[in-house]
Parts: sequence; C-alpha cells; structure tokens
Amino acid sequence: MDTVLSGIRPTGDLHLGNYFGALRNFVKMQNENNCYFFVADYHSLTTHPHPSDIQVNVKKILSQYLASGLDPEKATIYVQSDVPQVAELYMLMNMNAYIGELERTTTFKEKARQNPDNVNAGLLTYAVLMACDILMMHADKVPVGKDQEQHLEMTCKFARRFNQIYGVEYFKEPKAFNFGNNLIKVPGLDGSGKMGKSQGNGIYLIDEDKDIRKKVMKAVTDSGPTVENSPKPEVIQNLFTLMELVSTPDTVQHFDNLYNTCQIRYGDLKKQLAEDIIKAVAPVRERIKDIYNNEEYLNRVAAQGAEKAREQAAKTVAEVRHIIGFK
Ligand code: TYM
Repeated sequence: MDTVLSGIRPTGDLHLGNYFGALRNFVKMQNENNCYFFVADYHSLTTHPHPSDIQVNVKKILSQYLASGLDPEKATIYVQSDVPQVAELYMLMNMNAYIGELERTTTFKEKARQNPDNVNAGLLTYAVLMACDILMMHADKVPVGKDQEQHLEMTCKFARRFNQIYGVEYFKEPKAFNFGNNLIKVPGLDGSGKMGKSQGNGIYLIDEDKDIRKKVMKAVTDSGPTVENSPKPEVIQNLFTLMELVSTPDTVQHFDNLYNTCQIRYGDLKKQLAEDIIKAVAPVRERIKDIYNNEEYLNRVAAQGAEKAREQAAKTVAEVRHIIGFK
C-alpha cells in the first residue's frame, strides 16, 4: 500500500485549479492507499495573515475538503500547525538546504518579484517546509498540480542529501502524481496562464451558478479561426483545457470539430462549458454550506486527524534525531 500526501494553503476558498490539480485525484486515491491530506497553515504565514483570518480560512478549507469527498474514516485529515514535530524537522532539514538552490526556486523568485518588500526567510525556505510535510509521513505519491513540480524535485534532492550525509537509506523519494501521468495546469479565464487565488481569475467551488456563468461568459477569446485545422491560440486552448476536465469527450470532440472547420461560435462553447462546470461544482457547493456550519464535526475531524498525524510525526522525528546523533 502506498502512502499518499497532499496539502493546500488556507488563503481563501478552493478554486478549480486546487480541485482538479490536487484534491480530486486525492479523493480517488483514498480507498486503496494510506492517505494524509492537510491544511498547510504554516505555509500561509509568509504573507502575515491577520490572526482572526487564520481560523476562518482553516475552517473553510477543511469544510471544502470534506465536501469534495475526503472521508476522515479513510484518510488522515489534519491541520499542519497541530503537528508540532513539523517545526522541529523543518529546523533540522534547514541545515542541509543551500541558499543558492533556494534562491533559484521558481516560486521564490516569482514571489520575491511580486512583493519585493516581503522577501522573508520563511519564503526562502518554503520548499524545505514542504519537503518536511512530505518526508515526515514517508509519502510515495503527492497529488499536486504542475506548479508544484519543482518543489517535489527539491524534496527528492533533500531526501537524497540527508541519506547521503548520514550514510542511511532513511527517506524515500516521493513522486508528484496525477492520474494519466502528466501534471496539469488549470488555466485562468483571463488569458494570463494558471488559475490562482492571487491572480483573481478563479472559479471557486463555492461560486453560485450565476457567478460561474458570468465568469465563463467573460472569458477572453479571439475573433475565431479563418483557416481550417489551424492551431489554437492560448486563450482558446485554455477553454478547451477546462472543457476536457468537466465535459464529456463527445462534447469536447464536437467543439473541436467546429473549431477545425471554422464554424465555431465561442458563445455556444462558453454556455456549454459553464453548464458543465456547474454540474461538476454544484453538488460540492451544497455540501460545503452544511459542513461549514457544523463546527462540532469539523473540530472532531481535525482532532482525530491531528492525533494520527502526530503519531507518525513523532516516530519520524525520533528516528531522524537518532540518525543525526542525538541519542
Ligand atoms: P497551493 O495552496 O498553492 O495549491 C494547492 C494545490 O492546488 C494545486 N493548484 C493547481 N493545480 C493545477 N492548476 C492550477 N491552476 C492550480 N492552482 C493550484 C497546486 O498544485 C497544489 O497541489 N506548497 C503547496 C501546499 C503544500 C503542499 C505540501 C502540497 C504545502 N506542503 C506538501 C503537497 C505536499 C501550495 O502552495 O499549494
């Protein structure tokens, strides 16, 4: 049985990128694997969220996990800050991470460019903390989107380096995972690349039908193909990529044929896409409302998950301390 682990930062509601990039794959895996899914609240501290927002955001993410189909009886669902061993492993692993490689991380460079006044040490060592989440539970597979691929490569590097420094075969190298092998990037509808919270281009699991329709109808397009079988420009490919996630293969084929024969009407494609997104998202949205209001249930899930996660974490940290030489 494989160990599977993944996490999401609690910085707002979950969008289709989080859902199709990570969560949905994880839900499919929880029956046959030893699964951990957590709320990465330490990771969200790099932007100094207001203390009162942290609890609300953690509660939001937990309820959205559960509404998406995560089952606390099958998977261990926990909040990162409930597992104090993470902080200790992070400190220990920081000794083996080099400034140069951390500075070269794409996400670090991007964030540093976007917020030049907040280039803190936590941001620099973000990949180390993420590696600790994964190595702590000895995960084999990590369902994530394309944007996390480099972090997974760094996790493997840190695992190898630890093993090499101490002459052990202790940490295993995890794989970034997606069904169908290729990691995916869910595009935004504004033609700017990936869907993301900070990009402001997201369709959220809690969006009402009318909001989804409005957002999809506003998606950027072009004036349409004039030459048969011409390649699709990025903004159009983005709509097809979304369609491949939510629509039936027949529907995708239908619009693809229309595109290739220059008969496509983007308004029709968008209408269909909006309805198919609604079909995928609406049942989740209805469950979110109920679960979010059931504080007692959420507390119970988090407490149960924390207990199980701490058990494994305590074991890992004790073994790491022993390997390092603290006897
Ligand atoms: P975060 O919170 O930015 O995103 C959570 C998950 O959603 C995926 N994702 C996407 N996938 C495809 N297309 C998109 N547009 C898109 N946007 C987001 C991300 O790939 C991710 O899987 N560092 C992580 C959280 C984390 C973590 C971990 C994940 C902390 N420790 C350990 C796995 C294992 C992050 O910031 O994800």
